[in-house]
Amino acid sequence: MYRCGGVIPELESSRLRLRQLEDNDAPQLFKYWGDDEVVRYLNMSRLESVQDTLDMINLLNGLSETEDTLRWGIELKETGALIGSCGFNVWQLAGANRGEIGYDLGTAYWGRGYMPEALLTMLEFGYSVMGLNRIEALVLPENAASRRMLSKLGFQEEGLLREYQQNEQEEGYIDLHLYALLRREFAQRRRK
Ligand SMILES: CC(C)(COP(=O)(O)OP(=O)(O)OC[C@H]1O[C@@H](n2cnc3c(N)ncnc32)[C@H](O)[C@@H]1OP(=O)(O)O)[C@@H](O)C(=O)NCCC(=O)NCCS
Repeated sequence: MYRCGGVIPELESSRLRLRQLEDNDAPQLFKYWGDDEVVRYLNMSRLESVQDTLDMINLLNGLSETEDTLRWGIELKETGALIGSCGFNVWQLAGANRGEIGYDLGTAYWGRGYMPEALLTMLEFGYSVMGLNRIEALVLPENAASRRMLSKLGFQEEGLLREYQQNEQEEGYIDLHLYALLRREFAQRRRK
């Protein structure tokens, strides 16, 4: 069974480095996690300060020690700029080998293929190192860019989960589309 024990492995693609989030990333990440444009799609409340962002970084790194979450910072290799984050929000290995991903980029970096590139690297890691068989993503119906990107990566839309989570920004519940990609589908696409 895969165990990271709090050490986030560094991964690389042609333009990107996926690496552990550090305390000094807080000011930059606050620009994204404090931006309504980004967080409206994440079903989380906008973070209010750099300190809140630092607390979130520490929370996520702490959760990776108990194998409950794995979150990478996404860095542009060329400039070293931190442009967003991605990771496994949760995974269940025993009896399922299933994981759920989450991801976000600063708005200035949207539409340049960065997230599909980061996710390909992360998916490869999920299937081959973590031993996952099925990787899922939950997406708000109005998040057309994320849905488009998942389709490009070969994820299949499996249905609408009605009132699946409490709305973090206002009263009520939200519907989420369930997307999933199986290990054998991923391997097949890679062979093409
Ligand atoms: C979703 C997100 C990660 C996509 O990352 P990205 O690196 O910009 O992805 P891409 O460069 O592949 O661009 C997204 C695709 O959606 C398309 N797209 C963008 N806005 C769209 C819209 N309103 N309607 C339809 N398609 C749209 C783009 O044209 C592109 O498709 P293309 O390559 O065929 O032209 C990024 O937009 C983001 O961080 N959003 C905020 C956080 C978020 O939504 N996280 C995911 C929660 S499930």
